[in-house]
Amino acid sequence: MTHIRPFCIGKLSLKNNLVLAPMAGITDSPFRILCLKGGAGLVCAEMVSAHALHYGNAKSGRMLQVSPKEHPVSMQIFGSDEETISQAAQNAEKAGADIVDLNAGCPVKKINKAGAGCVLMKDETKLARLLTAAIKSVKIPVTLKTRIALNHKEFLGARLAKLAEDCGAAAVTLHARAAVDMHSGEPDVEALANACQAVKIPVIGNGGVTNAARVKEFLEAGCAGVMIGRGAVGNPFIFQDIIDELAGRPVQAHTAQKRLEIYLKLIEENVDYYGERIGINRSRKIAGYWISGFPNAAAVRGEFVRLDTLPDVRALLRQVIS
Ligand SMILES: Cc1cc2nc3c(=O)[nH]c(=O)nc-3n(C[C@H](O)[C@H](O)[C@H](O)COP(=O)(O)O)c2cc1C
Repeated sequence: MTHIRPFCIGKLSLKNNLVLAPMAGITDSPFRILCLKGGAGLVCAEMVSAHALHYGNAKSGRMLQVSPKEHPVSMQIFGSDEETISQAAQNAEKAGADIVDLNAGCPVKKINKAGAGCVLMKDETKLARLLTAAIKSVKIPVTLKTRIALNHKEFLGARLAKLAEDCGAAAVTLHARAAVDMHSGEPDVEALANACQAVKIPVIGNGGVTNAARVKEFLEAGCAGVMIGRGAVGNPFIFQDIIDELAGRPVQAHTAQKRLEIYLKLIEENVDYYGERIGINRSRKIAGYWISGFPNAAAVRGEFVRLDTLPDVRALLRQVIS
């Protein structure tokens, strides 16, 4: 069985079936570009509020921006009413997104209180209305990202995958953990397999994927694609590494120094993109993923979080790199 293969979502052709997950505060344009270079077949943007876009929120508007260097890219929207979801989908399409994804899996209270994210899993009528509104508003493929379950008693993955297919979604991503587990615990591969059997549209499996063996397991369970989240944060080459390993080719070694060089480049891109203060602040939040794997990493991280300027950050990281 060839595990890694070209992949289609609706009429969009992807070079492979490994996808970068949407992660708020992380999968912005600089990071998405890095993951495409690292071998991802598709990259997903952090979720954007349809409501905020409707009210002209500048920060949310900026989150929809697509650089010419980052195709194919999926823009994720969240919301709770058809009109704003429809508008947001159109805005994403106009901004240059290749796919619009609707979030129905986020367990964050603030999002759920506004009637969006995983609470939609409990209201299939509303979820179908929102998804249909997005699909009818754009020409690009629309996908749904949800979960296999809300709790450990009732599995909804197969039902929700079928709902997505019946509404006309081009694919469905299933996070193989219940919403009550947030982002921790082992993925439920059996629940993924059941959902895959229920539909003809591609199912993209997600949750706890950090190596080739897990990718193989998900694909052998019937998933057409595999989405990787935190496994890519300090390691954007994970996609190519998995491709190489599954093809029986040698996997490149990534030394801590090499990874720090790439992290420094990402910090520089972030500063370019957001300005120094926000760029460094965003980079700091993911420092734990990058500044690791060498003897005094904890001390370097401790020093790094106190720095505010790019020259200081450069000086610190270059000391370790050289
Ligand atoms: C910091 C963080 C932010 C996230 N933001 C989003 C988001 O904006 N939209 C979304 O659908 N999922 C979001 N997720 C969930 C991920 O897309 C993914 O489903 C989850 O991390 C499981 O995959 P993993 O085990 O490979 O990390 C987020 C997860 C993390 C850790």
